[in-house]
Amino acid sequence: GMIDKGGYRHFMEKEIHEQPDAILNSLAGMTGEDGRISANMSREELQAIDGIVMLAAGTSHYASQVARYWIEGLARTPVACEIASEYHYRNPVTTGITTAIAISQSGESLDTLKAMRHAATCGLSTIGLVNVDGSTIAREADAILPTHAGPEIGVASTKAFTAQLTVLISFAVALAEAKGHIDAARADAIHDQLQALPGLVGKSLKLFDDLRPIAHQLKHARSTIYLGRGHLFPIAMEGALKLKELSYIHAEGFASGEMKHGPIALIEDDLPVVALLAADELMEKAASNLKEASARGGRIILIADERAVNDIDFEADIITVPAVDPIIAPILLTIPVQILAYLTALDKGTDVDQPRNLAKSVTVE
Ligand code: AGP
Repeated sequence: GMIDKGGYRHFMEKEIHEQPDAILNSLAGMTGEDGRISANMSREELQAIDGIVMLAAGTSHYASQVARYWIEGLARTPVACEIASEYHYRNPVTTGITTAIAISQSGESLDTLKAMRHAATCGLSTIGLVNVDGSTIAREADAILPTHAGPEIGVASTKAFTAQLTVLISFAVALAEAKGHIDAARADAIHDQLQALPGLVGKSLKLFDDLRPIAHQLKHARSTIYLGRGHLFPIAMEGALKLKELSYIHAEGFASGEMKHGPIALIEDDLPVVALLAADELMEKAASNLKEASARGGRIILIADERAVNDIDFEADIITVPAVDPIIAPILLTIPVQILAYLTALDKGTDVDQPRNLAKSVTVE
């Protein structure tokens, strides 16, 4: 039937809540008949993938940037992430690249479509990672990796993003297995974590109440920065995009370790700094970057794995998600980041589902 808001105030709110199902269904699409992770490609097809260029825009581009950490780390296959609108007017060198992956929720973003066509012209095989069945990118790609997030109506992408990440980490595992870079035990351990993810996301959906007072303050900010290290750096950029498109507050995502090379000059008293932290090998370094920002007057809003906050020795508003294997932390930490942007816009009174100047899918250049 007709797609309605199902009792929620906004499509975005509804779609945030649909993420456990979006992840579950997308993972099912990446699970073979033997119950193990599969990319629906033969071992030979996977082994033939030697270098990847990812083509996407906006939120889908940030998904590609997270995937680079997974694919290079697990499958030892080089990945370049390109902004689609730039790629299709370049004359790219394709040495060492066999495959282009076009990532698009709608499958209709003209920039991404043109970038994929350009890649095909350059002799690359193409994979479309799309949410909409039968979309132009789905029809034109040589192969498809589908997300099963269901229709996304809110202009701000939420469930499509976490579904893209689910498919991309599964692809990374399948590629790593085909190439012999991961043993079955580690592959299955990641699969177990992914199967637990819908439940953990469900728990994180209870953070609305904790985030409401933070959003209430954030709405007064003129500018904000978002920080993350490693595969949380793209989540910082995604968080900043969510905040700017929904609340019209200037927001910029930086790699935490890059702050000292310039952006730290932006920090002044009470500048909100939304910081992402996982319990991984970068945790201590990332926390010390945040302490530095706090010492300069930044007001830290820390969004973290519950195991990453024990030794925090600076003032911060702390929001925690359940403990997870660090490899899937980018997916889980996205949830509070989305909720914060949603609540800030709601408090400010902007049009959440239909922000000014934006269209759901951008079919012009
Ligand atoms: C996300 O919140 C944006 N509205 C936008 O960046 C979007 O992700 C981008 O336009 C790409 O869309 P696509 O995934 O449908 O190609």
